[in-house]
Amino acid sequence: MPDLAVVTTADRPDLADERSAALLAVWPEFVLHDQVNDRLMDRVTSAWPRYDVTILDAGQVVAGGWAIPLRWDGTVPGLPDGYDGALITGVSGLEQDVAPDTLCVMAAAVRHGRQGGGLGGRILAALQARATGGGLTRMIAPVRPVLKARYPLTSMASYARWTRADGTHLDPWIRTHQRLGATILGPAPRSMVVTGTVAEWENWAQMAFPETGRYVVPGALDPVDIDVDQDIGRYEETSLWMRHL
Ligand SMILES: CC(C)(COP(=O)(O)OP(=O)(O)OC[C@H]1O[C@@H](n2cnc3c(N)ncnc32)[C@H](O)[C@@H]1OP(=O)(O)O)[C@@H](O)C(=O)NCCC(=O)NCCS
Repeated sequence: MPDLAVVTTADRPDLADERSAALLAVWPEFVLHDQVNDRLMDRVTSAWPRYDVTILDAGQVVAGGWAIPLRWDGTVPGLPDGYDGALITGVSGLEQDVAPDTLCVMAAAVRHGRQGGGLGGRILAALQARATGGGLTRMIAPVRPVLKARYPLTSMASYARWTRADGTHLDPWIRTHQRLGATILGPAPRSMVVTGTVAEWENWAQMAFPETGRYVVPGALDPVDIDVDQDIGRYEETSLWMRHL
């Protein structure tokens, strides 16, 4: 991969639009409607552009990932409540002048047509180098395993134990983290909570929800609860905490 360059948003703020156009398309639509994310993202973008990494191939955006610094006591009970909890911990730590010691990897994305070629791992390695360079001694991630959406009825605790005959994990994204030295800490329940009206959910999922019940939705790691009488759909995603440093 000779033409690859790793830059941060601190170096190249001009890439924001190209990056969004290339990378937002890889997510299921509902993921982009997390209310905690909506509330805090501006703060994250302005505070930590140095932990917002982009990979360019011959000048074109092919992958990106971002992380936030936060304080963590190094214990499993002391972990934030997944993705949303990490955002809240990171931003409130910033506002209260709490010195961070941990980099929390929030997302990584590789553009369509370039997945499966090792770029996801490159993003994790780039963020780890920035953690160390920024004086942060730990790196954790609320991981969204890529194949978990095929098993939405299975608990994350069970899924986390699934290995292949060669002993490596069944899930390729967990494998990538493990190859870089990460270990599994445990499930993060309510990592990301997305609520919307039934019409919004029908639009996000491109499915009809004619009656109240639990539904399996493409791209969702857990079922979505739809309540037609209350006109609300609620999704609580469980992710998997992993630790790199
Ligand atoms: C998850 C993601 C970042 C991984 O990056 P990547 O560069 O495609 O993955 P890698 O090249 O590191 O691939 C590692 C392994 O995953 C496999 N793989 C990657 N994407 C896969 C997919 N969608 N389905 C099945 N296998 C996949 C690769 O073949 C490779 O397998 P191996 O362990 O046998 O070698 C990327 O696929 C992506 O952007 N997905 C959509 C967004 C997402 O879910 N991000 C993760 C949550 S933050």
